[in-house]
Amino acid sequence: MNELRKNEVYEGRVEDYSHDGMGIIKIDQKPVFIGDVLKDEVISFKVIQVKSKFAFGKLLSVKEASKNRQTPPCEYYYQCGGCQIQVMNKEEQANFKRSTVERNINGLAGLNLEIKETITGQDSYYRNKSQIPVQKIDGNLVMGFYRPRSHDIVDIDHCYIQKDSHNDIMNFVKGKLIEENTSIYDEVKHEGLLRHLVIRSNHDDSEIQVVFITNGKRNEFLSITKALKEKYPNIKSVIQNINDEKTNVIFGKRSIVLLGQEYITDTLLGKEFKIRDRSFYQVNHEQTEKLYQIALDLADLSADETIIDTYSGIGTIGLVASKKVKKIIGIEVVDTAVEDAKENARLNGIENADYYLGKAEAVMPKLVKTGVSADLVFVDPPRKGCHREFLDSLIEVEPKKIVYISCNPGTLQRDMKYLSEHGYKAKSVVPVDLFPQTKHIEAVTMLERV
Ligand SMILES: C[S@@+](CC[C@H](N)C(=O)[O-])C[C@H]1O[C@@H](n2cnc3c(N)ncnc32)[C@H](O)[C@@H]1O
Repeated sequence: MNELRKNEVYEGRVEDYSHDGMGIIKIDQKPVFIGDVLKDEVISFKVIQVKSKFAFGKLLSVKEASKNRQTPPCEYYYQCGGCQIQVMNKEEQANFKRSTVERNINGLAGLNLEIKETITGQDSYYRNKSQIPVQKIDGNLVMGFYRPRSHDIVDIDHCYIQKDSHNDIMNFVKGKLIEENTSIYDEVKHEGLLRHLVIRSNHDDSEIQVVFITNGKRNEFLSITKALKEKYPNIKSVIQNINDEKTNVIFGKRSIVLLGQEYITDTLLGKEFKIRDRSFYQVNHEQTEKLYQIALDLADLSADETIIDTYSGIGTIGLVASKKVKKIIGIEVVDTAVEDAKENARLNGIENADYYLGKAEAVMPKLVKTGVSADLVFVDPPRKGCHREFLDSLIEVEPKKIVYISCNPGTLQRDMKYLSEHGYKAKSVVPVDLFPQTKHIEAVTMLERV
């Protein structure tokens, strides 16, 4: 038998992918996870870590390459932790995402559903939000993204997945920060000013927001703000967000407008949305429109229906559905997002929408007590999925349909399994690639009460 040992070199054929896009080769029944390899490739690798149930390996050479292997298009790919699967071409990325959904839904949850082909789209320069950490190392300003599993920044001047307008602004701000000798935050000493630069834009870059996230409220950004406005007339909003906590959370609770408006405006499926710095907004405009359209098609709404839009963010899904339904009830935990959702309803002349601030698992049971009824519920939780109390109250509401949008197949399968044990059945799940070049996977499904 082939005992697995650290630092030993092995050869094998990649059998499958892990949920985070690593290849799996089994040696002595033990799965070894290896990055930057494709399914069916024969590779040689060195074992770098052995745990009781699994191990990690490092790719040494590819003996038989997959036809779907590509040279990573980004020059920083092997240092930067932002993307994980640039060695796969578009087709293989779609295969990996579909197979991960399949393994979760049909393997782990045992639901035996049809898993549709992954819906793909533009796979470069798509991200409309960039959150760029800033540090000073040996007196030099560095801006970029973290190395995998670390807080060291890879200093970059170009990111392949953020919009090119963001690359431009990032480099411009960097030059100005150096020129102005702006105080930079030191996370070990918890002192210094600038922590992150955030850039967000609408679909055609006609409105861009720049956010300086700072430790404390000292404003050292007057001249940079002025220079930004002169160079980029489409920057409609410059914000200083204050975060003086010792934390990995990027945004603090207070924002001050340095220039222009508090928000930028974007259009999704013909509706307009105001987006403020702290509110959630999907990062890939083209794919979000496809995702929402699939959700709407699955919902197949009619004019006399009431819908509940849970985890509603700034109201996007419910509001794109609004003209088709009698009433919308939204639930969302971030206060500014709820304010945005109300404002967005007004902006689109929609009078049939009400929003509740609070955790879905707290608000939904309260709504149940008031005897609320709904024909359909949209569910779009964060990665950790739904709280059991929320699912229980959702089941109590007894909607005919639940349209579930998920950014984590692991929690989607758990929640779908629970719903299927309580009378809700789906037929299929559609993976939508909202995050090309990365391991992240979005999926949408519709469950019907049987
Ligand atoms: C994946 S986003 C979806 C937002 C929106 N549906 C969209 O498509 O833009 C999840 C949203 O749930 C909110 N959220 C997180 N935990 C929550 C909870 N326990 N209850 C209600 N909302 C929550 C987040 O603030 C975020 O706006």
